[in-house]
Amino acid sequence: MERRKFVKDCCMLAVGLPVLGTMLGSCTTRYFAQANFSNDRLQVMKSEFQYLKKEKLVERDFVFVKLEGEFPICLYKEAEGNYSASLMQCTHQGCETHLEGKLFVCPCHGSEFAIDGKVLKGPADSNLKTYKTETDDENIYIYI
Ligand code: FES
Repeated sequence: MERRKFVKDCCMLAVGLPVLGTMLGSCTTRYFAQANFSNDRLQVMKSEFQYLKKEKLVERDFVFVKLEGEFPICLYKEAEGNYSASLMQCTHQGCETHLEGKLFVCPCHGSEFAIDGKVLKGPADSNLKTYKTETDDENIYIYI
């Protein structure tokens, strides 16, 4: 291999790995749940929070729900039987926020919101839109 090409390929690999790692990391943390819409509410099965990891059933803290053409809703499991649902649209200028740990972070201008949608850092000055939730034995209902 020509020395110049070898150096160029090494540089491309060095630049590409962190980007690939970020992309893969974000792919593994965003699980979109199946949701049915009827009577002004979304129905999500509680079992959508469960998945198999090394043959053990484990629980996600949150899932995402997306209606066509809309921003995703983050459905977060707060405590046994309680769920919060927040629209992931930043209240500053409308960019889609990302969940980082238990914070919604806006990539456009850096606003941050708590997991319950409360604004923690501007420039946004109002909370994320949130939705009332209810549950029964098998389902979570999001009133949109
Ligand atoms: Fe989110 Fe500006 S659009 S901080």
